Formats: sequence, C-alpha cells, structure tokens
Amino acid sequence: MAQATVQARTVTGAQPKILDVENLSARYGQVVALHGVSINIRAGELVAVLGPNGAGKSTLLRSVMGLTTSTGSVRFDDQSLPRRGTSRIARAGVVLVPEGRGIFAPMSVAENLQLGAYMIGGRGTEFERRRDRVLTLFPRLRERLNQTSGSLSGGEQQMLAVGRAMMAEPRLLLLDEPSLGLAPKVTAEILETLGQLNRSGLPILLVEQKAPLALKLANRAYVMSNGRISAEVDPREINSHADLAQFYFN
Ligand SMILES: Nc1ncnc2c1ncn2[C@@H]1O[C@H](COP(=O)(O)OP(=O)(O)OP(=O)(O)O)[C@@H](O)[C@H]1O
Ligand SMILES: [Mg+2]
Repeated sequence: MAQATVQARTVTGAQPKILDVENLSARYGQVVALHGVSINIRAGELVAVLGPNGAGKSTLLRSVMGLTTSTGSVRFDDQSLPRRGTSRIARAGVVLVPEGRGIFAPMSVAENLQLGAYMIGGRGTEFERRRDRVLTLFPRLRERLNQTSGSLSGGEQQMLAVGRAMMAEPRLLLLDEPSLGLAPKVTAEILETLGQLNRSGLPILLVEQKAPLALKLANRAYVMSNGRISAEVDPREINSHADLAQFYFN
C-alpha cells in the first residue's frame, strides 16, 4: 500500500519547545470553542492533532495564527506571539495551510506561489530559489505553472496550498486536514512530502481526522474533543496496542 511509505520519525533527546501554547481559550461570539488548551511542539517534531468534527482543531490553528478572539499564551521560539495580528505572526515564521486550502482559484499556479512569497516581493533570486525548491517538492506543479488554480485536481490544489505556504519559508508549518476529500494515493503522496519536509528540520503541527495516517507520520499526537485536549498519545504505543478504537476513527 502506498501509505506504508510514510514513516514515523523519532526525535531523540529533549529538544527545546518551538511552540508552547498554554491555556488557550477562544470564542465565536457567545460560543466558546476552545477551553484552556495547552500543547507544545519541540524542535524537529511533527505533532498531530486528532479529533472529530467540531472538536476545535481548526479553531486551535486559527487561534495560534491570531485569527480568533482568544486568551491565553502562545510562545514561538521563546517569544510571545500576539493574540491578534496574523501578519506579525506570519513574519515570525508561523504559516498556516487552512482547511479548504485557501488558494485563489481564478489565479494561476505561478501567481499563487508568488502570493506565498509576498514578504520578499514575489520576484528576484531569493524568490526563484524558493520557487525551485517548491517545484522540486511538487513536480506536478511545475508542469502546471500557467494553469488556473481552480482547474487543478483536488490533490494538486493541496500541493499548491502547501507549496504556497513553503514560499514563505516557514519555521513552523500548521496544516489543517490536508487529506480532506482526497483519494488515499494522493493523500499518501502529500503526507510523504510533509514527512520529507519534517525530516529536513521543519516542525509541523498537523490537524487530521484520518488518525491512522497522521499517526504513521507523527512523533506525538494530541486528541481533542469538545474544545479540550482529551489525551496525548505516543503513536508507537497506539500502533503496538491497536487501541485506536478508544478514539473515533475514519
Ligand atoms: N465562524 C464560526 N462561528 C461560530 N461558531 C464557529 C465558527 N467556526 C467554528 N465554530 C464552532 O466552533 C466549534 C469548533 O469548530 P472547529 O471548526 O474548530 O472544529 P474542527 O475540529 O476543526 O472540526 P472539523 O473536523 O469539522 O473541521 C464548533 O462547535 C463550531 O460550530
Ligand atoms: Mg476543522
């Protein structure tokens, strides 16, 4: 099976925390969607957040990015991140690939990649270097640079969403359900690339409902339900004890 190519990686030793979220709460109007969530990611880790629909996974990522009304503490690389002000957070090196991908459908692949590099102006030697790196990661995008993004397949759109995020050269990548609506084969391909990015040193926070896939890749995983962290799991134990069923899976 193609998915078997996705390998978990073990981070040895206590690496410093690159992201440290403490007691984060968020609300939409009167609806409280996060209740005092605390999670962390150590340097080099790929950490998964699992949980059913409505658990608060997207809200957690959006809150880290300063996109919700939230309280609590988010530290990135030992600096406090503001609870509002997404562009400041992005400039610090935290980049989100949102649920639903967020690419600009009428624009070409090349233009979407340019947008990802807006902080460096979208042209020049550094831009070309970054773009080359992204197109090496996702060769299918190279063949489709002038194609309208909306006409890409779902898998190619997800590759573009990740590629656009990589154009910002993130120091931490947040991913919201990259497998959503994709066939197993293309999901495995995208997760393999994420694993490759992680092994090259990029810390990743991966929200995923498809727990078995995420657990193959992750060093650690948190399980969310009803706006809270209900468990922290070691993917190796989950695999060996086959006790996945205590969580929800699909
Ligand atoms: N813009 C919004 N306005 C009001 N309530 C919202 C909004 N976005 C999310 N919520 C509510 O917040 C809660 C958490 O939603 P969230 O999108 O974070 O869940 P999720 O775990 O990402 O779910 P899914 O797996 O379906 O994407 C839900 O009860 C949802 O209805
Ligand atoms: Mg979501």
